[in-house]
Order: sequence, then structure tokens, then C-alpha cells
Amino acid sequence: SKGDYRHFMLKEIHEQPAVIAAALEGRLGEQSVLVESFGPEAEALFDRVRQIHIVACGTSYHAGMVARYWLERFAGVPVQVEVASEYRYRQVVVPEDTLFVTLSQSGETADTLAALRFARERGYLASLAICNVPGSSLVRESDLTLMTQAGPEIGVASTKAFTTQLTALMLLTLALGRVKGLDGGVQAELVAALRGLPGLVERVLRLDPQVEALSAAFAEKHHALFLGRGAHFPIALEGALKLKEISYIHAEAYPAGELKHGPLALVDSEMPVISVAPNDELLDKLKSNLQEVRARGGELFVFADEQVKLEEEEGIRVLRLPHVHEVLAPIVYTVPLQLLSYHVAVLKGTDVDQPRNLAKSVTVE
Ligand code: M6R
Repeated sequence: SKGDYRHFMLKEIHEQPAVIAAALEGRLGEQSVLVESFGPEAEALFDRVRQIHIVACGTSYHAGMVARYWLERFAGVPVQVEVASEYRYRQVVVPEDTLFVTLSQSGETADTLAALRFARERGYLASLAICNVPGSSLVRESDLTLMTQAGPEIGVASTKAFTTQLTALMLLTLALGRVKGLDGGVQAELVAALRGLPGLVERVLRLDPQVEALSAAFAEKHHALFLGRGAHFPIALEGALKLKEISYIHAEAYPAGELKHGPLALVDSEMPVISVAPNDELLDKLKSNLQEVRARGGELFVFADEQVKLEEEEGIRVLRLPHVHEVLAPIVYTVPLQLLSYHVAVLKGTDVDQPRNLAKSVTVE
């Protein structure tokens, strides 16, 4: 049931602190991630892994894109991420000792399942499913599994499934990193940051009235542009996907550095631009993009850390989020984007939980 919430989506957004805690439960040691969370054979397999292919669809694919930044940085393993419907029809070369990772809320997505079966024939080392539904086809057919523990997700627009996937992928990063000799201090720091994550997300949820106040600026618009850099580019993609699927506003996402290579031509006062720029380092790089947008009359919405130096001015609205460890910021910055789409959709009066033309589980190609 929806309880006191108007929609399942809103309820599921608000469940995130609890389900992220559930995703971490029993998987953290004092200073490192428990590798055996991935199964008894995980340690020996991880030791052999020399590359990773991540395959998924939609929101789950965006989680995989974030994980690439994490895995390459902390586990030092090359990572490829691809949508399942492309992967399965390509002449993929699977190098020796490749870990094949699928991400799926339902575990029944036809393309993801087909990609797993296809890659098996190409001889990967082992498959790992990060999934929310125990006993699903994907879980049954994979060598290793890690359940995301998000509980049933009813809203078609994925919210808590995504943030728990990201949490699970950070666990994978630290488990693989541990086996590959990642510095103990770095492991301990990230484990501590993970422990603080549910509380942080809780604080972000309290900003809901401020996010809601921004939503009116979008309700009459036909387009929106999301910008992010690094691991926040996939978060921009996910923000754009949420907005288009539930509010039917055409939204696109670009890595901020690509702005002047094309999309800037679209920017005018009718095109709100949303930028995810958690810290000063990212913000510095984004600042010139932001000016370019302003110079063309574009209205800017910036989600940033409370510690960054950025003043609100005419045409620039800044929403400040609590300070978060830079590595975990993609998880935290997802939340205000979910809330923004939600409020825009409510203002527009769309069917938030059952958007037109979409199904919760895509079991046909
Ligand atoms: O169940 P899965 O995670 O495999 O589903 C993949 C996509 O269909 C799904 O993430 C979809 O993009 C979301 N419902 C969008 O919010």
C-alpha cells in the first residue's frame, strides 16, 4: 500500500535511507567490505578478474555507467558498460578472465537475460547478477549474485532500485579493490562514508519543499537539458530519463564538456538547464559552461554541495545539499533529481506511477 503517500514513487523515494541501509546490512566489516557477501567463491574469482563487462537496460544501465568510474579508479580493472540490446547483437570480443555483470531490478528484462546467455557462449570467467528480485531468471542463471534489498518497487519509474544498485556497485568496487590490493586507508574511509549514507539521504529528503519550489519553472516547458561531469554524467542521464518518463518533458543529458560541441545551439530562455556540480573541482570546470548558458538567456538550476562557492543571481538558482564524500556523491545527487521529476509530473497531472506506454518489467524484446 501507499500508506500516507500520494504515489508509490514518492513512497519509494522516501524509503531510500532504509533500503540503502538494508543493502549494506551484514556486508561491511570494520574497515573493509566482506568479499564473501558475493558468495563463497567470490574471493578466488575476483583474484582472477582482469576486465569487467557490465550490461543492463534503462536506469540499471545508468547505474553501470557510474560503476565504471568507481571500478576503474579503485579496483584498477578496465570496464565496459553497454545497453543489453546492443551488446547481445554485436560481435563482442570477451577477453580472457572477464567478469560479466548484469544489473536489473526485475531480473526478467528480456534483453539483459539474452545478453547473459549470449556472453556465456563467448566464454567469460563468471557472471554476477546485481538484482532486486530473488529467484528471478537472472539470479537463477548467474554464477554469483548480490541482492539489492530494495523491496518491491511498484512505480514504473525506478528510484530506490537505482540507489541500492549504486550502493551494491560500491560494495563490488571495494570487494574487488580489496582483493586487488586497494590501500587499506582508502577502503576504511569509503566504508565509513557508506555507513553515513542512509543518514545523508535522509537529510536530502528533508529538502523536498525546496525542490518542489523549483518544479513550477519546468511545468510549462517542453524541453530540459541536464549537465554533469565524470560520475555525475550518468546521474544527469538518469535525471533526464526520470523527467521524460513521468512528466513527458523532452529532456536530454550531456557531459558538461560537450555543451559547445552542439547542444548549446538549443539553449534559450525556453530551455531550463539543470546541472549537477557537487564540489568545487567539478564546479570550476562547469562554471564556464554555466556562463555560456546564462549568456543565451537559459535559466540555470544548480545542485551543489553546501560548501561550494556559488552565489545565486538572476537566472541561476542553487540548491545546496549536505556535504558528502565526493565518491558517494552520485548516490546522494540522484535524490533531488527524482523529487524534481516527481513534482513536475504532479503539477502536470500525469499518471506518475503508470506512465503511458511503459511497463514495469520489459520481458519482451
Ligand atoms: O528490471 P530492470 O532493471 O532490468 O529494468 C530495466 C529498465 O527497463 C528500467 O530500468 C527502466 O528504464 C526504468 N523503469 C526507468 O525508470
